Amino acid sequence: MSEQYDPLASVQAAGPPGTISFVYGLPDPDTFPVQELCDCLGEVLRRRASLALQYGPEQGYGPLIDYLRAWIGREENLHLERPQMMVTGGSAPTLDLICTLLTRAGDRVLVEAPTYHESLKLLRDHRLVPCQVPTDAHGVIPDALSERLEQLWSGGECARMLYLIPSFQNPSGVTLTLERRREIVALARQHRLLIVEDDVYRELAEPGVVPASLYALGSELTLRLGSFSKLLAPGLRLGWLIGPPTLVRRIYDCGVRNMSGGWNPLIANAIAAYCQKGLLEPHLSQIRGVYQDRRRAMLEALEAYMPPGTEWTRPNGGFFVWLSLPGAMGSAATVARARKKSVLVLPGDPFFAESPTGQYFRLAFSYVEPDQIHNGIRILGEVLAAG
Ligand SMILES: Cc1ncc(COP(=O)(O)O)c(C=O)c1O
Repeated sequence: MSEQYDPLASVQAAGPPGTISFVYGLPDPDTFPVQELCDCLGEVLRRRASLALQYGPEQGYGPLIDYLRAWIGREENLHLERPQMMVTGGSAPTLDLICTLLTRAGDRVLVEAPTYHESLKLLRDHRLVPCQVPTDAHGVIPDALSERLEQLWSGGECARMLYLIPSFQNPSGVTLTLERRREIVALARQHRLLIVEDDVYRELAEPGVVPASLYALGSELTLRLGSFSKLLAPGLRLGWLIGPPTLVRRIYDCGVRNMSGGWNPLIANAIAAYCQKGLLEPHLSQIRGVYQDRRRAMLEALEAYMPPGTEWTRPNGGFFVWLSLPGAMGSAATVARARKKSVLVLPGDPFFAESPTGQYFRLAFSYVEPDQIHNGIRILGEVLAAG
């Protein structure tokens, strides 16, 4: 369960009463389209229960795939055919299945430094070895990727996969530039690397804000993970995968899918009904406004309250800002001091596959109201200034 440490996570996400928590990158539950989902579920159960409650086709519910390929195709000027897509149970279980089917224990997987700590955990569950590549304000650095690949080759090792979160990255909020996306696809081609593009935050911005996907630039070697978790609600456990038809087929025509059918047929049917009624796009416009207000509040508060020497990323979407502390100031001690003042932040070390520096925080703004963001960052600023 991403981002959550115990079963009371929704309570914990807000922190104990009186605290302001920037720890969890959860969608705001007030944005969940509860009534519309009730209506769609009811409709599906009344009209096609024998289909929706049955084992479904391994690739997923066809009308949902058709909606998604038309929608994504339109937004991104991409032509997608059915064999290039499947419905999934979300990004995390799809990454898990990709690791099961396409990697072997001991394989090297290149990741950004920093990257999502739960993805690192998942890769390590498969006995894979994450190798980190430095990033900056424009995303992962292609020359550093090239160097790391050469280093692995010269040590007699090779990397099997490149796992990237190119849009509004978790934890940094940074978006990989188009130029770098092109360079990275070229490097992946040269080194025969599979790219896994975890793009769950892309649709939180208006179309056109995020550059062309790695999939659009290198469709023969990229598996792109999409998800309804941030767009509708993570409890739906539904997403999609786009990739080369042979790999997509390999992923849906596997033991667990053959044995259990398509992922979550009832929910897939309900979401298809929701999308076909034209509800998805107005909903996205609404939540984009909510998260944009929070992001603005966070960036304004950081500008107003952070002491000199503190640096942070300036994302134009997503859920996160990444903060770095000046020289000797460690994030662990700061986390403890902020907690005493009832502000909860997440230290950055677990987001590094190798050599953490103890210097960073992730600040999640998705779950906190703008006025609370201002209060929390003001207090954090006071804690940092007190050194
Ligand atoms: C980068 C990234 N990938 C995947 C996930 C999980 O996505 P899903 O709910 O679709 O499994 C998250 C959730 O926080 C995430 O930040």
